[in-house]
Amino acid sequence: MQCKVAPSILSANFNRLGQDIARCRETGADYLHFDVMDGIFVPNISFGLPVLESVRKETDMVLDVHLMIDRPVRYVERFCQAGADIVTVHVEADTEENTRKALELIRGCGKRAAVSVKPKTPAEAVLPFLELCSMVLVMTVEPGFGGQSFMADMMPKVTAIRRYITEKGLDCEVEVDGGVALDTAKTCADAGANVLVAGSAYFKAAEPAAFVKALHGLAVRT
Ligand code: DX5
Ligand code: ZN
Repeated sequence: MQCKVAPSILSANFNRLGQDIARCRETGADYLHFDVMDGIFVPNISFGLPVLESVRKETDMVLDVHLMIDRPVRYVERFCQAGADIVTVHVEADTEENTRKALELIRGCGKRAAVSVKPKTPAEAVLPFLELCSMVLVMTVEPGFGGQSFMADMMPKVTAIRRYITEKGLDCEVEVDGGVALDTAKTCADAGANVLVAGSAYFKAAEPAAFVKALHGLAVRT
């Protein structure tokens, strides 16, 4: 299995967002990662529905929407309608019942549903939801900001989730997010991640196409 690359537009230049998005496509990136923050679930505020609608008009790339918002069940359908292809909710953001409901609503919209875990949340927290999910996102930094250091101690969690998916024969991708650069990307692929989010590493790369190509060359251990 080959790695996919998802540049996080949190690190883009918002004065020329359209051009930066076009470049993601031209350089061979697979998904466009879209970080939504509400200032409650995480201590930062980013962008939301109107920006997603604009981005949707700008590109046909797979839009991977990472909701770092409190009680996302309230909003998932609107993110689907605004153009998301994948909608990720955090298991810490609501009750188990509401998380399940959010995933069902996303699927009901014909979109891919995903769950995410913060660094302090164990792998077991996502397992009850995996049958509803097309992807699991393991955070490799505390969510809220780009440009933080990669937490290598999250790799056993990635491996545990990958193993569970393989054992159960589920059709579910494993994504990592936070501090992913050339060196740490290999660590992630070795641990079993197949979707690599990269914010600062992608947007600061002197040659983003070469960066994407290098990540595509990593073999995922499944
Ligand atoms: C952090 C976000 C990430 C962030 C990653 O809360 O979820 O997607 O943009 O940025 P880097 O790759 O710079 O750590
Ligand atoms: Zn993210």
